[in-house]
Amino acid sequence: MTSPTPLPTPVAATPADTAAAVALARRIPKAELHIHIEGSLEPELIFALAQRNGVALPYASVAALRAAYAFTDLQSFLDIYYAGASVLLHEADFADMAWAYFLRAKADNVVHAELFFDPQTHTARGVPMATVIRGLTTACARARAELGISSHLILCFLRHLSEEDAIATLEAALPFREHFIGVGLDSSERGHPPTKFERVFARCRELGLRLVAHAGEEGPPDYIWQALDVLRVERIDHGVRCLEDAALVARLAAEQVPLTVCPLSNLKLCVVSDLADHPMKRLLDAGLCATVNSDDPAYFGGYLNENFAQTVQALHLTRADVVQLARNSFTASFLCDEHRQALLKNLEQSIEKE
Ligand code: ADE
Ligand code: ZN
Repeated sequence: MTSPTPLPTPVAATPADTAAAVALARRIPKAELHIHIEGSLEPELIFALAQRNGVALPYASVAALRAAYAFTDLQSFLDIYYAGASVLLHEADFADMAWAYFLRAKADNVVHAELFFDPQTHTARGVPMATVIRGLTTACARARAELGISSHLILCFLRHLSEEDAIATLEAALPFREHFIGVGLDSSERGHPPTKFERVFARCRELGLRLVAHAGEEGPPDYIWQALDVLRVERIDHGVRCLEDAALVARLAAEQVPLTVCPLSNLKLCVVSDLADHPMKRLLDAGLCATVNSDDPAYFGGYLNENFAQTVQALHLTRADVVQLARNSFTASFLCDEHRQALLKNLEQSIEKE
């Protein structure tokens, strides 16, 4: 009797393989689909805007503010994030914030970005909706003209507030309908299930807006089911807790529902205790359409390339994984088909240049 042929032992990635995968990730064009623009406010810009607008901050210096960035969970971060956004008062403030992000995105070879913004954080302080949207739109137009970066805005409802507040926010934003492509759901996840926003999402769907929602960041897999079946979203933001539910993973894989995953955010908000335990590799291996994103880069220690680099290093992702992630970023985007195909082609050409 012949003994069965032994299975090949998996070959571990060498440090050179990993370094090559990191270099590839940095170099190729990518889309970013999960960035809260208020989370791109660097401490230096917070202080500069506070001075320009005469806003008092509860921190003595940039260093003192940065020292406060030691988060234990999502809520501990959100408290500081909303305080940071209090310096934004005028159209130019919103434009300056978004322009600073686009410059960093350009340095990371981001060619398309879909920016979340939280209007309720501003309108609650008396800042008009027009000021927020006009300022952001100015920066988006400038990014397209001067940096060649295309972008879309996605208006997020704060889930710790009521659905009535979300509906009023939608109404206030409708005069600017042409300036945002869709709506999302963010802020404190636990205790605020997607079902709370069923009516406002149904209305947005009727209006032809694209739909996304944060789910399964800190909240249970059931919130991901609700986001899919009750809110009928097209993408899940984060979604990493889907791995606790095999039927959910099967559904996400079968329908290729994109997950906009944010590895450094998950580390800084203690969703994972070590990047080596991050689920990104498992998500890819399960055939899910996962993407890499920066979430709130000024608070979590890095923009898109830093998220790629640290994740590739920690999980020994391969060059094939990196290529898959970059392709996913375009397929999961809300680009029109023609623009998407052009950017995918551009990506393939860039990979071939090795
Ligand atoms: N708002 C800004 N960043 C967020 C995150 N990571 N989760 C939920 N809401 C947010
Ligand atoms: Zn987010």
